[in-house]
Formats: sequence, structure tokens, C-alpha cells
Amino acid sequence: MTEIGKVGIVGLGAMGAGIAQLSVEAGVETVGREVTAELGEQARDRIGHFLTRKVEKGVLEAAARDAAMSRLTLTTELEELGGCDLVIEAIVEELEPKRDLFAELDRIVSPEAVLATNTSALSVTEIAAATSRPERVVGMHFFNPAPLMPLVEIVRAELTEDEPFDAAFAFGERIGKTPIRCFDTPGFVVNRVLIPLLNDCIRVLDESRVSPEDLDKGLKHGAGWPMGPCALVDLVGIDVHVHASEALYEKTREQRMAPPARLVAMRNAGLLGRKSGRGFYRYDD
Ligand SMILES: NC(=O)c1ccc[n+]([C@@H]2O[C@H](COP(=O)([O-])OP(=O)(O)OC[C@H]3O[C@@H](n4cnc5c(N)ncnc54)[C@H](O)[C@@H]3O)[C@@H](O)[C@H]2O)c1
Repeated sequence: MTEIGKVGIVGLGAMGAGIAQLSVEAGVETVGREVTAELGEQARDRIGHFLTRKVEKGVLEAAARDAAMSRLTLTTELEELGGCDLVIEAIVEELEPKRDLFAELDRIVSPEAVLATNTSALSVTEIAAATSRPERVVGMHFFNPAPLMPLVEIVRAELTEDEPFDAAFAFGERIGKTPIRCFDTPGFVVNRVLIPLLNDCIRVLDESRVSPEDLDKGLKHGAGWPMGPCALVDLVGIDVHVHASEALYEKTREQRMAPPARLVAMRNAGLLGRKSGRGFYRYDD
């Protein structure tokens, strides 16, 4: 199986920085590529901040933090990912930029390297088709925030072969995640189930005229959910949830996937949940 000695992460936003953090903490040499040096530095600062908090909480030695940070190299040049055995892409959620990037990576990294995309809703198979090695392209779908959420879905595209698929699975385990295997279908596993379920919950708000507080209490105390659906959608971001629902609806044409009108209206009004200070609930912090 491909030995993963060095990993490249393309895009160090919310997801990429979290994945880079996991990788350096697991002792892996990691090269992060952003579009500007400033964005790269901001990501490095965020990673350093999270690791320092772990030191303050007593769950990480200061020396281990420093060693982890020393494994992170930043670049704006894609060519510097040439020596990577695995490259994980976490750029904007749009097909054409991802396909352009994969075509470039295909030319830059060795033919044995594995290419992975963290896409939530696009087809891994279509991204893989932009390369001359679709058999070595997989989905590695992490959850936000990647350092805290244990799951990673390892997604087999139409032409993915066993060896790169297993290498991606093993890498997921090596960085401390709980990987699961699935095929390249809309929403993969968790979003395929969770998105229509949350949409049902929001529709029930209007049908049953239950308040968000009571709906959340209902699912927490009646179904054992750790967090109620309204609090969860606020945490995920109402815009993010609406976008994911639209993408799934587009692909499946199943009515339950379509974003409820109430959420679209909230998104349009700028009620985005925690990040905007107001969604179903108000947040003062
Ligand atoms: N945020 C989530 O909850 C979540 C969860 C799972 C998967 N995803 C997926 O992960 C990917 C990234 O999402 P995000 O939330 O981190 O987005 P983000 O906007 O926070 O980060 C994207 C980053 O990529 C950079 N970028 C854009 N083009 C680039 C390029 N060609 N090379 C290098 N860097 C580039 C941007 O400057 C930005 O910093 C998307 O495909 C998204 O669907 C997101």
C-alpha cells in the first residue's frame, strides 16, 4: 500500500486548516497551499492557537505542539506539492475550480500519489475524471470542525481502485479519525440521512406549531439526540445547510431534500445561526 510520508493540503480554510492540524499532530510532514501567503499565515496562526489551547488544557506537551508546528510548510506554489504521497483538496465547493486543480495536481505529483477531495456535495467521479489517474482519486469527507468530529467518509468513485482507497482509509485512522467506506452517491452517508431529516424537523415547526425550543427538547429527550435540530442547524450555519440541501435536491429531485421555505427566508434575511449572532436562537458571544 502507498506509504504516506508527506501530505499536501490545498485550501487552508475552515476544513483544510483543521485537516492540516490533524496531519501535523499525527507526525506527518504536511505542505499547505493557499492562494496568498497571508491566507496561509492566518491558517498557521489558527492551527497554532488550537494547539496552544490543548497545551493550556494539559492534553498536549508544549514540545509536541512545537514539533507539530515545525512539520507544517506553507506555500502558494502548487509545484511544491510535487513530493506528496497524498494530496487532500479543500478549496471552494465548485466543480470547475476543483477539476482544474486536479488536472494540475495530476501533472505535478507522482503517478503513485493518491488524490483526495473533501467535497460535501459534488461528484468525486467527475472530479476524478479531470485527471489521467481516476483510479487513484478518492473522496475524504471530513466533518466540521475536523479536529473535533471523529468521522471521515472514505468515498469510492466509479473508477477508484482498492489500493489507493485503502491507503486513504488507513491515513484517516492514522490521524485519529473513525473512517467509514462508501460509494460516490449524493450526500454520501451522513448528509444523505441528516439533511432530509433536519429539513423534516424544520417543516414540523410550521406543521405542528411547536416552538424551536420545544422541538429541540422533543428530539433531545424523546429521541436521545445530543443536540436539538434547531440548535444544530444554527451551529452548522443556515446558509451552509440551505446550500447543501439545494445541492442534494438538484441531484436527487426528492422533495425532502429541498430546503424548507422558512430556512431560505432566514438565510436571505441574514439569520445564519451562531456565526451571525442570530438564527433560531440568539447568541451574544
Ligand atoms: N465547512 C464545512 O462544514 C464542510 C464540511 C465538510 C466538507 N466541506 C468541504 O470542504 C471544502 C472547503 O470548505 P471550507 O468550509 O473549508 O471552505 P473555506 O471557504 O473556509 O476555505 C476554502 C479555502 O480554499 C482557498 N482556496 C480557494 N481556491 C484555492 C486554490 N486553487 N488553491 C489553494 N487554496 C484555494 C480559499 O482561499 C479558502 O481559504 C469544500 O469543498 C466544502 O464543501 C466543508
